Amino acid sequence: MSLLARIREDIQTAYRHDPAAINTIEILLAYPGLHAIWLQRIAYWLHHRGVPVIPRLIFHLGRFLTGIEIHPGATIGRRLFIDHGMGTVIGETSQIGDDVLLYQGVTLGGTGKERGKRHPTLGNNVIVGVGAQILGAITIGEGTKVGAGAVVLKDVPPHCTVVGVPGRVVAYRNPDNGRMERLPDPEAEMLRCLQQKLFELEDRITTLEMRGRG
Ligand SMILES: CC(C)(COP(=O)(O)OP(=O)(O)OC[C@H]1O[C@@H](n2cnc3c(N)ncnc32)[C@H](O)[C@@H]1OP(=O)(O)O)[C@@H](O)C(=O)NCCC(=O)NCCS
Repeated sequence: MSLLARIREDIQTAYRHDPAAINTIEILLAYPGLHAIWLQRIAYWLHHRGVPVIPRLIFHLGRFLTGIEIHPGATIGRRLFIDHGMGTVIGETSQIGDDVLLYQGVTLGGTGKERGKRHPTLGNNVIVGVGAQILGAITIGEGTKVGAGAVVLKDVPPHCTVVGVPGRVVAYRNPDNGRMERLPDPEAEMLRCLQQKLFELEDRITTLEMRGRG
């Protein structure tokens, strides 16, 4: 695919994801997410040809201009869109599939305990909400949505919604019919049981108190 065709595809991606996008010149000049991706493509090309220092300098320039850090070693699929982008960090061994959407403040980071492959792998069509942190060499399955502010430390299967700290799967979308199924939340269920028990105990205390008075 030619460079021009790739840029055209990126612009179409911005139109698709950002309802505020109305002008191609504006997208070309004022979308930091696109600028960060374009600079990373150059840095990636040089990095994988063994060019020293320059990829890191391009990375540094990209961070300075956009507030987004994408390591030159990260592998990024087609039509990635980073909306707003400020504070987003994509680590060296991250792998991102096609048609992924990231918001600002997302980290695809390491846990600090691993070497080698230590950053996440995102499947195609993954959405990662604002401020979500995905840490370690884990896999987020195709079509999964990571809720804003989630901290995800374990693999997540495809077509799920994962939210909270630590991230837990709360819903699954059947890709065959598009239907959402809410998954039981064991923690919420336990709290409901405890609350029920509390009501029962309160009832028994009231009964005993009334008997004592009588
Ligand atoms: C997770 C998200 C993608 C919604 O996915 P969804 O599959 O449509 O899920 P639902 O909205 O049906 O929510 C499922 C459950 O998760 C809860 N939930 C949704 N997002 C959540 C979040 N970020 N944190 C905690 N809980 C969340 C919902 O309250 C709901 O709980 P309930 O079943 O007890 O009512 C969306 O909430 C989100 O976080 N999007 C990110 C958007 C963003 O970052 N925008 C930035 C714009 S600048």
